[in-house]
Amino acid sequence: MMTLWEASKKRISVRAYQDRPVEEETLDRIRAYIDELNGVSGLPFQLVTGPGPGVPAVKLPGAMFSGPVYAFAALVGGSDNLSAEKVGYYGQDLVLFLTRLGLGTCWVAGTYDRKSFSLDLPEGMQLWGILLIGWAAEKMPVRQQMIRAAIRRKDRKLKDFLESDLTYDQVPAWVRKGIEAVKDGPSAVNQQPANIVYDRGKVWARLWKEGRGLQFNDLGIAKRQFEVGAAEAGMPGRFAFGDGGHFSPEAEA
Ligand SMILES: Cc1cc2nc3c(=O)[nH]c(=O)nc-3n(C[C@H](O)[C@H](O)[C@H](O)COP(=O)(O)O)c2cc1C
Repeated sequence: MMTLWEASKKRISVRAYQDRPVEEETLDRIRAYIDELNGVSGLPFQLVTGPGPGVPAVKLPGAMFSGPVYAFAALVGGSDNLSAEKVGYYGQDLVLFLTRLGLGTCWVAGTYDRKSFSLDLPEGMQLWGILLIGWAAEKMPVRQQMIRAAIRRKDRKLKDFLESDLTYDQVPAWVRKGIEAVKDGPSAVNQQPANIVYDRGKVWARLWKEGRGLQFNDLGIAKRQFEVGAAEAGMPGRFAFGDGGHFSPEAEA
């Protein structure tokens, strides 16, 4: 299995899939991982498969996606900002796990047909998004290449993710590696609304930009991504939840 860092480097939003269901054994591994995550997060993520063999689990607009998707993870959580952030954090953890298994995935919050599957939601909870699960097409079709390029046109530079009195080159290597992972991570419409603040040895994450409701998902995603980069550079640690939540290196945690 590839490492978390390798998965973060390899991951892109896959919008073109082979007509090839994911093997039952692999689905079981994903279910087990989701159970583990739910145990830690308290969130009720679920693996959803089609109602029968060869039946897709969700209908996707053909203008944007190609190929059937036979399984997805339902990212369910409360409607408050903290829950939204947790959905982002643990959802991204799952994205990296799926990527490490060699699968293709795409975080989809809006562009899917919600009526094409049924899902029981616990009281007070909502479906924040779904993670498509399948085998990526061997070659990304031109249409999907163009969609990705169009959305990523607004990509920010690495130094734009840093808020500090120091320049990007002056901050420690592990902070730069963390930021690299944040930039490599997904965000809704590629808004990249979470920044990393470095102030006299302390690191925290903050939203610099208003969003249209998914920015707390993005904040949680950015935190998980930063942790992967920092760990790769020899500084494993964890963020506290919340806008402005601090990063604590493992040794101090
Ligand atoms: C919270 C969230 C919601 C998203 N919703 C959609 C969506 O509805 N449809 C879609 O095609 N992509 C969606 N994406 C994928 C983003 O467009 C994608 O992550 C971004 O453009 C960066 O491209 P990349 O993931 O290929 O690096 C979503 C991503 C996130 C994090």
